[in-house]
Amino acid sequence: MNEATAPDRPFAAGMYDYLLGGTANTAVDRATVEQMLTVLPEMRQGAWANRGFLQRAVARMAGEWNINQFIDLGAGLPTQRHTHEVVRELRPDGRVVYVDIDPMVIERGRTLLADEAGTDVLEADVRDAERVLTAPETRALIDFDQPVGLLMVAITHFVLDKDDPWGLVRRYVDAVPPGSYLAISAPTADKQSARIRDAMLAGLAKTPTPAVERSLEEFSRFLDGLEIVPPYPGAEPAVAHIGQWGAEDPVAADDDGSRWWYAAVARKPSDER
Ligand SMILES: C[S@@+](CC[C@H](N)C(=O)[O-])C[C@H]1O[C@@H](n2cnc3c(N)ncnc32)[C@H](O)[C@@H]1O
Repeated sequence: MNEATAPDRPFAAGMYDYLLGGTANTAVDRATVEQMLTVLPEMRQGAWANRGFLQRAVARMAGEWNINQFIDLGAGLPTQRHTHEVVRELRPDGRVVYVDIDPMVIERGRTLLADEAGTDVLEADVRDAERVLTAPETRALIDFDQPVGLLMVAITHFVLDKDDPWGLVRRYVDAVPPGSYLAISAPTADKQSARIRDAMLAGLAKTPTPAVERSLEEFSRFLDGLEIVPPYPGAEPAVAHIGQWGAEDPVAADDDGSRWWYAAVARKPSDER
């Protein structure tokens, strides 16, 4: 548990859990978030907008595009209507592998999912794609000859440029067959002042997983070679702010929290592999 192993350090998973109203967080997670909220009051709104994007993207993949197996990279805790809950409502046969680097997430995840057939939790660093893709947990649940839902929701910002996040996304996409989908979101400071951006990054720099924010151009490169799905009816196939994706009212959904995040869902075309 983080409380025991690093009681003085906040963790991204615990901070995010606190923002979503969960209880799997430590005093230092909460204090770090509260400090950040004084500068970024819309951060909680942004966390919920991100979780809402994940839920809408997974529902679309499972319900409309018949995807019944998901690899959730940088999953966080499997609570607050997470992937397997959304999938199971639409595909009772659905399978989900949750991958996270945080031992607290793994321990709690294993307990929470003990009775959930078709789910598993893998402790791994997503930067080690080879290990994630070949791990027994992954191989037991995912058939790589069938389309896969790849979830890289709020995770690529923990992959610094020196670790080639674009090449990393490509390695995961290369491992799945055409007809698979990628859902991806990442924070941006394109609409923020430098002072506010620095406050966000400083909070995450206290954790063992420091992060970066990325511009629209940098985010769009994650989608090279893929067919972007229009984010809402009538929209062009393009990157959106996170609240807009799948929203009934994309104008109202594009609030201050939403503008902290870019999001897209894209399909691997048949001429890719
Ligand atoms: C903000 S949470 C996102 C949770 C979920 N994907 C969502 O969007 O609702 C980010 C998660 O990524 C995990 N994480 C950060 N760096 C990681 C890495 N290199 N490998 C695996 N997980 C990582 C953290 O432990 C945390 O649980």
